Amino acid sequence: MEEQSKKVIFSGIQPSGNLTIGNYLGALKNWVKLQDEYDCYYCVVDLHAITVKQEPKDLRRRTLEILAIYIAAGIDPEKNTMFIQSHVSAHSEASWLLTCNSYVGELSRMTQYKDKSSKYGNSTSISAGLLNYPVLMAADILLYQTDLVPVGLDQKQHLELARNIAERFNNAYSPTFKIPDPYIPKEGSKIMDLQEPLKKMSKSSDNPNSYILLMDPPEVIKKKISRAVTDSLGIVKYSDEQPGVKNLMTILNTLTGETFEDIEKKYEGQGYAKFKEDVGIAIVNELEPIQNKVKKLLEDKEYLEKIYKAGAEKASYVANKTLRKMQKKIGFIPVAR
Ligand code: TYM
Repeated sequence: MEEQSKKVIFSGIQPSGNLTIGNYLGALKNWVKLQDEYDCYYCVVDLHAITVKQEPKDLRRRTLEILAIYIAAGIDPEKNTMFIQSHVSAHSEASWLLTCNSYVGELSRMTQYKDKSSKYGNSTSISAGLLNYPVLMAADILLYQTDLVPVGLDQKQHLELARNIAERFNNAYSPTFKIPDPYIPKEGSKIMDLQEPLKKMSKSSDNPNSYILLMDPPEVIKKKISRAVTDSLGIVKYSDEQPGVKNLMTILNTLTGETFEDIEKKYEGQGYAKFKEDVGIAIVNELEPIQNKVKKLLEDKEYLEKIYKAGAEKASYVANKTLRKMQKKIGFIPVAR
């Protein structure tokens, strides 16, 4: 009963690559913080991952690994609903219904679509899934009558679109969806690439030195941080003129809670070596216990199966209620029972 009075959170991560510390600090770490206050649905969004080509066995491996990471990071399976998107068919169904209430114009204006599709050169080989991807994301969110969506800054535009699609549907038929709000953390919502600190850190980058993976071994993490691009000023200062240093300070701040002022004072007159070493240590301190838990969890596939099965059952029940409403309002004849 208590759960019904709680507000609802929905969020997800794509198993399209190995998770980075950007995914962790921008999203997952906040999910853990919010879990007690909200009724949370945390999803591994495998349907989203196939908008770009995936090797089937890698997709399977990463899907389970992400579920294990959710649990290892501290999301309590007893209190939260964790599931795999493709196990709840309502997501695909609702996505079609919303696709018919979305415009090609608004979808092709999405920054992420423009970035990703520009890599393919000519439009005949761009997957339609890449264009429709934010509609599927809207379906994910709206099916659960979600209040709050904790994401990194790069998803803000998709969330605004989800709100617009919801409002349009509500106006065309009658109130059906709650209008969700984004939850974007003040710090850590955009962790930058370690080699090109004006670019977002991304799991799809070709250069492994540009990101820290959640499952990178401690020595690799420390080495990548020591190689992170900074500048020739040699001053630890939180400034837009020093994007590399600013990014490392942000990582340190989100992990240890030290303020930017404190960090500046602590490393005054010392150059970058000790500062970088400490950033590396802070990351390892946070990730190592998670990595050990992930490894243990992945040895117990039965346990993981129990969690995603129960998650899909609970999620299907809630999602189907909204889906039936949508179908009825659109004018479909209910399935005879
Ligand atoms: P995805 O899988 O690209 O990323 C998962 C989450 O990590 C955040 N993130 C970052 N945060 C800070 N710094 C970075 N460098 C960084 N890179 C990624 C993302 O903002 C995201 O919160 N479309 C979504 C997945 C999705 C979803 C949803 C999210 C599908 N349906 C419904 C919320 C609600 C995506 O591709 O995220």
